[in-house]
Amino acid sequence: MSTIAIIGGGNIGEALISGLLAADRDPQSIIATNRTRSRSEYLEKTYGIRTTDDNQAAADGADYIFLCVKPPQIVPLLGELSETIDQSGSSIVVSLASGVTTSAMEDALSAGSPVVRVMPNTPMLIGKGLSACAAGRFVTEDQMDAVSELLGAVGDVVVVGEDDMDVVSAVSGAGPAYYFLMTEALIEAGVQQGLKRDVATKLARSVAAGAGALLETSEDEPAKLRANISSPGGVTIAALRELEESGLRGAFFRAIEISAQRSAELGAPSTTSDGDH
Ligand SMILES: NC(=O)c1ccc[n+]([C@@H]2O[C@H](COP(=O)([O-])OP(=O)(O)OC[C@H]3O[C@@H](n4cnc5c(N)ncnc54)[C@H](OP(=O)(O)O)[C@@H]3O)[C@@H](O)[C@H]2O)c1
Repeated sequence: MSTIAIIGGGNIGEALISGLLAADRDPQSIIATNRTRSRSEYLEKTYGIRTTDDNQAAADGADYIFLCVKPPQIVPLLGELSETIDQSGSSIVVSLASGVTTSAMEDALSAGSPVVRVMPNTPMLIGKGLSACAAGRFVTEDQMDAVSELLGAVGDVVVVGEDDMDVVSAVSGAGPAYYFLMTEALIEAGVQQGLKRDVATKLARSVAAGAGALLETSEDEPAKLRANISSPGGVTIAALRELEESGLRGAFFRAIEISAQRSAELGAPSTTSDGDH
């Protein structure tokens, strides 16, 4: 079985570990690193994986090296690991950090190193994520397939061109926040109309979960699912008219445009932000 190094066993690193084990991977084939010993002890105890605070030792001989640290740490980390990775020869480096380009990663390694850039989102924490993957210049199709299969343990996977990554970041990386905001707004609107807060919260959360499940399983387009519950002259269409007149659709167009621009700014080499969502 291939070996996997998870550099940075924080939220996303742990989600990956948990998903890989749920997909029947041998815990001993996974090694995770953290600088804090207590975090490593927690991961060892909870998942039975191997841990270390030595990134080079973890990367040495690993088939896949997942970088799950904050964006500004990626390039320095690759500098630290480059010799080990070069000697191993066949390791595939996969970064889950926002904004760090494959060319920045390739430049930090020796020529010809296969790297993959992934934009995850937080539902990955419960195995329902979306990982959008862009290949570096030296990754083969088989290697991309293998990385996609591993990430499939924590949700859906799509392969995109790297030029699309800023928009992908705005749509799916940040996307869960838009649904949380809509759920929050629905709760407040219900309370404003006299519902008890706990009842409004139960309704709004359940609606979000149910609509999400329908979107996931139905073959109908979202527009058809919406039309199905919009009876002529009815309750739903009255609310939809108000939302359209209030500019909801235009707000999404503008929000995604500005979010993609922000992603591009944060990914620019001179940025000092941690580049996170
Ligand atoms: N699209 C999204 O919505 C989304 C969501 C979440 C995350 N992400 C991306 O995923 C990445 C990880 O995020 P996260 O939320 O998992 O962050 P996190 O919880 O802070 O995890 C980072 C982990 O890396 C460890 N670490 C830091 N520096 C290290 C080093 N030099 N060597 C080894 N371990 C090190 C930290 O532990 P110690 O301090 O103990 O070392 C920590 O456990 C980020 O780059 C972020 O951009 C994207």
